[in-house]
Amino acid sequence: MQHAQMDSEKMHKMHKMHGPIGDAMSRINYKIAIISGKGGVGKTSVVVNLAAALKKRGMEVGIFDADVHGPSVPKMVGVKTEMRDILHGSHAIDPVTTPHGLKVMSVALIWPTDMTPIMWRGQYKARVIRQFLSSIMWHELDFLFVDLPPGTGDEPITIMKSIPSLDGMVVVTTPQEISAMVCSRAINAAKELNAPILGLIENMSSYHCPGCGREEFLFGKGKGEQLAKTFSIPFLGAIPVDGQYSAAADEGVPIVYRSPDSLSAQAMVKIAENILGRLPPREKVVVQDRPWEEGRDCKRK
Ligand SMILES: Nc1ncnc2c1ncn2[C@@H]1O[C@H](COP(=O)(O)OP(=O)(O)OP(=O)(O)O)[C@@H](O)[C@H]1O
Ligand SMILES: [Mg+2]
Repeated sequence: MQHAQMDSEKMHKMHKMHGPIGDAMSRINYKIAIISGKGGVGKTSVVVNLAAALKKRGMEVGIFDADVHGPSVPKMVGVKTEMRDILHGSHAIDPVTTPHGLKVMSVALIWPTDMTPIMWRGQYKARVIRQFLSSIMWHELDFLFVDLPPGTGDEPITIMKSIPSLDGMVVVTTPQEISAMVCSRAINAAKELNAPILGLIENMSSYHCPGCGREEFLFGKGKGEQLAKTFSIPFLGAIPVDGQYSAAADEGVPIVYRSPDSLSAQAMVKIAENILGRLPPREKVVVQDRPWEEGRDCKRK
């Protein structure tokens, strides 16, 4: 990454303004949140694979799972841990490191069991997210991705309002009209809150027949690109429907590591490059030695 001097005075003031959340995130270069209008369009898979593609490129990458009711990041990156392993003193929480070196934090990692329901509402939920944001010790990161639940409820709004200098929102949609329609609401919400939009990704855009190699556009061609044009936001790329992609998610290994030659992995790498090219250049982080963490991070599942 190239170097561009940040106005340190300005940055300091900004972090002061955002208090403890600004402090906890002061050593993160780029903060990007992933939104969609509708559920199940592939946000979490996009987050995990964008993160993995950038990690493979030598970046330090973290993921904050802000989907408090349906946290699925830990499952997709193959980590599971217990609260006592990550609580650090009384107020700080350490993210968990995945086998591929991604830093991850999710409510799923501090919850008693996968079957225990999370029944937080409204203001309480927003407070929990802010508490999380100010307590997680990310240390130095090139990228932090925030995985959001679908729609424009408490979590996306809290994130858009609370994270200091959010670099952008990435919108994920599928080609079906219904997804595009609700996706428009998410784009408008981001615009209304002045959250910068980095662009739109179309997931499940086409299917490649494994027999003859023919590409079928199951739900129509070019819908995502068209939607991006309508809202004057960049189109970041398309991901095909791929059985290997969902198998990778189920196994807890990002597709860019599991099957790097697959079309979906190649699409994710291209999208990650595209995002990199659209961000203002900043100096790559230098990770400080933290000997007290030696051997503590897990490769558990
Ligand atoms: N391109 C694809 N090809 C095949 N399977 C996919 C693809 N994209 C996503 N999936 C599968 O679809 C399911 C839903 O994906 P994912 O959990 O990423 O969606 P989401 O938008 O995060 O859902 P939610 O709104 O519930 O958080 C997963 O099982 C995932 O593996
Ligand atoms: Mg999800």
